[in-house]
Amino acid sequence: MTKGFVIAIDGPAGAGKSTIARKAAAALGFAYIDTGAMYRSVTWKLLQTGKPFSEELAGKLAGEIRISFRPEGNRNRVFVDETEVTEDIRSAAVTKLVSRVAAVPAVREAMVDQQRRMGREGNVVLDGRDIGTVVFPDSPCKIYLTASVEERARRRGKELEEKGQAVDYKALQAEIAARDKQDMERAVSPLKQADDAIYLDTSDMSIDEVTGAILRLAGERRPKA
Ligand code: CDP
Repeated sequence: MTKGFVIAIDGPAGAGKSTIARKAAAALGFAYIDTGAMYRSVTWKLLQTGKPFSEELAGKLAGEIRISFRPEGNRNRVFVDETEVTEDIRSAAVTKLVSRVAAVPAVREAMVDQQRRMGREGNVVLDGRDIGTVVFPDSPCKIYLTASVEERARRRGKELEEKGQAVDYKALQAEIAARDKQDMERAVSPLKQADDAIYLDTSDMSIDEVTGAILRLAGERRPKA
C-alpha cells in the first residue's frame, strides 16, 4: 500500500516533464523522483566500465547501483554510489544509449522496485514513461504530457544552447523521434498514455500554465484527509 499521494507524469522526450514535475513538487512540498535520471545513471555506469553494451551487464549493474537525489535550488542533483553525475548523465553518449538500457527487463525490474520503495515513503511526484501504467497504476493523479516533436526539439535545443553547446536542430529532432519510437515500441513497459491519465498537449502552453494545470488537478484528486 502507498502511504502518500503519488502524482504520476509520463510522456515522450523533451515534453517538459522534469521542469514541471520539479516545480509542482516544490509547490506542494512533495519529493520529486526523476525516473529518467535513474535509467541514465545505469547507462552512465555501463559506459564507465568501458565494456560494450549487453543486456546481462546492464541488468547486473542495475541490481548493484545506488542512486540518490538531492534537491538544491531549482535543480535535482543526482549521485551514483556517492559520485555526482548530475551533468554527466545528460551527455550525448548517455542519451544515445539510454533507451536500449531502459528496454532491458532486468534493468526495469530493479528500477521500478526502487521507485516503488521511494514512492511508498510519502507524498511524491514521479516523472517517466511508465509511472501511470506500471509503477503506480493506482495513482489517482496521472498526467500524460506531450508536445509536437518540433516544439520538443526546440525546447531541448534551447536548454543545450544555454549550457553553451552548439545545436543542430534537424539532428536533435531526429534523435528525439528515434528515442520516442524506441520507447513506444519496446516489449516491456512501452511509453503509452494510461487509460485514466489526463492528456495535456503543452505545445502552446507556458511552463507556469502547465504547472498550474497540474496543481489544480492534484488539488481535485488528492484524497481528502
Ligand atoms: O529528459 P528526457 O526526456 O530526455 O528523457 P529522460 O526522462 O531523462 O529519460 C531518458 C530515457 O530513459 C527515456 O528515453 C527512456 O528510454 C528511459 N525511461 C524509461 O524507460 N522509463 C522511465 N520511467 C523513464 C525513462
